Amino acid sequence: MIKTQTLIIGANSVIARSIAAKIQTDAEMGLIVISRDLSAYSAMPDTSIKQITVPNYQSDSIEQAVIALTQCNHIPISQVFICNGVLHNAQLQPEKRLEDFSEQAFQQVMQINALIPMLWIQKLTPVLTGKTPCTLTVFSARVASISDNHLGGWYSYRASKAALNMMLKTAAIELSRRAKNIKLIAFHPGTTDTPLSKPFQKNVPADKLFTSDFVAEQLLNIVENIALDGEASYLDWQGKSIDW
Ligand SMILES: NC(=O)c1ccc[n+]([C@@H]2O[C@H](COP(=O)([O-])OP(=O)(O)OC[C@H]3O[C@@H](n4cnc5c(N)ncnc54)[C@H](OP(=O)(O)O)[C@@H]3O)[C@@H](O)[C@H]2O)c1
Repeated sequence: MIKTQTLIIGANSVIARSIAAKIQTDAEMGLIVISRDLSAYSAMPDTSIKQITVPNYQSDSIEQAVIALTQCNHIPISQVFICNGVLHNAQLQPEKRLEDFSEQAFQQVMQINALIPMLWIQKLTPVLTGKTPCTLTVFSARVASISDNHLGGWYSYRASKAALNMMLKTAAIELSRRAKNIKLIAFHPGTTDTPLSKPFQKNVPADKLFTSDFVAEQLLNIVENIALDGEASYLDWQGKSIDW
């Protein structure tokens, strides 16, 4: 019997799909997925997955999705994963040097990597606040660490994930007062074999390029065992803390 539910946002991410597949093996855990493209889930035989398709991640669409979520059922949500993130796409590439920096690209990367997760946190907090312990994990990256930036480059990606981390730190202070059941986590999956890392894999040693299934397993173990301590944690795939 289903006791609690997992919510995955940006659920078409390769890592998100691996998390979803693992959740489906747990008979006591329900699953809600939200994405612009849920075709990967429509093909699955399990009809108990609640699917919410969003046209985009504008504020109104997020609000509508949260309403749809609350109308599904009243089973509490115990874990949330916000997977959205962009490093490159048809319009942008990570910058190697100052000359590569583009105002439009920066705005797009900030919107996807920092603003969209923040809107979800804002609009989900009333739904998650309550007696059920709930972890809310947002995909960050080690390159967001200001103290660990020795290589440079990737201005927009680094800045957007660092902004995301600051949002989590700040929200954790507020939630420690008004929603003590919610634990915020900024997660670095390690270099994982997905479309996001594909163009940058050639110098990664084979044992440092992870499968999404491995990362999903690690992450689910981390969130299962983490304490509700009222602080934001910045963790890697081993569950080790990263300096902010
Ligand atoms: N792969 C790595 O090596 C690596 C390393 C460090 C951090 N990360 C982080 O891990 C997370 C998951 O990435 P992944 O590797 O699984 O990549 P992926 O398979 O390429 O997934 C991309 C994700 O970003 C969302 N997205 C893409 N374009 C978007 C847009 N224009 N507007 C809003 N959302 C958009 C997608 O949402 P939809 O479901 O709506 O399509 C999906 O959730 C990202 O936040 C990434 O920064 C990955």
